[in-house]
Amino acid sequence: MDPSIQLANFPELGIPEMDAQHRAMLESLSRLRSSPRDPGRDAILLRAIVEDVRSHFAWEDAEMEAAAYPDRKRHFKDHHSQLANLSDLLKFVEQGHQPLDVDFLLACEGWTARHVQSMDAEFARFLADRETWDLQEELKAWEYEGLMAALPD
Ligand SMILES: [Fe+2]
Ligand SMILES: [Fe+2]
Repeated sequence: MDPSIQLANFPELGIPEMDAQHRAMLESLSRLRSSPRDPGRDAILLRAIVEDVRSHFAWEDAEMEAAAYPDRKRHFKDHHSQLANLSDLLKFVEQGHQPLDVDFLLACEGWTARHVQSMDAEFARFLADRETWDLQEELKAWEYEGLMAALPD
């Protein structure tokens, strides 16, 4: 899907601080991608994006820790690998003096949109109603056990 369409239809998760940070991240990624290539300017913009993403993840990680969110380790890992990808892209542009790889940037945008719609949405759901979240997790575990039990040995 065209990321500009993703941005227009972007779901708000009901946590104003989180929603504002997500929107800003996606807007700056999309702005960088659609602007004319200029290695010096691209590097400056990309560095600013990496710093924004790093601080968003640090903020969200702290929120998950404070809420003792049970699925936080998996979520931390996803943040960590995305930050590593973006940092690699920045390294190529800054040290390798290579033009910005637009496909790579597009992949980062796609990842951000998917992450927000899945993992972040899940965390927002937990914050909104922990009891229902717990019950649904239990249900998932039972369903999984049932599926495993149905498999032949
Ligand atoms: Fe996240
Ligand atoms: Fe997030």
